[in-house]
Amino acid sequence: MFDLTPTVDPADKPGFYRDLDQQLASLFEGEHDPIANAANMSALLYLAMPELNWAGFYFLPEGTDVLVVGPFQGKPACVRIPIGKGVCGTAVAKRETVLVPDVHAFPGHIACDAASQSELVVPLIRDGRVLGVLDLDSPRAGRFDADDPAGVERLVARYLASLLS
Ligand code: SME
Repeated sequence: MFDLTPTVDPADKPGFYRDLDQQLASLFEGEHDPIANAANMSALLYLAMPELNWAGFYFLPEGTDVLVVGPFQGKPACVRIPIGKGVCGTAVAKRETVLVPDVHAFPGHIACDAASQSELVVPLIRDGRVLGVLDLDSPRAGRFDADDPAGVERLVARYLASLLS
């Protein structure tokens, strides 16, 4: 059984992400399945990170240009997002993390859950190929600050490393 034991104050973001990274490492121990690890990672982030209303993955099937929803926690979501559309598709097109402090100020934002006010999307890039994105939504505008991109990128790196057998 997995025991969620946050040991660090979420206000100490570098420490919080270090701690989450260690929890992910335990969760992924000996497991390389991309869906299984994405499912457990979504559950962990949704439980451990304050003020989220959606946490999960979109995957980009090889040879296509449309993201497809993967494992997540939160309300049922839009299934397909073309590259370049919404925050998720923009992160893929730019091949970089996109932090949106206020989704209403982001042209083309796709509102899957009307509660979402801010969003952080980190692309999953392995060997130069974008495999998909990790998407985090918050009901509070400005929920994600300057420490969050690096912290979540560290967690995404842990996920990508887990896929290697
Ligand atoms: N808001 C995202 C769509 C995905 S949902 O938030 C789960 C976007 O603009 O790409």
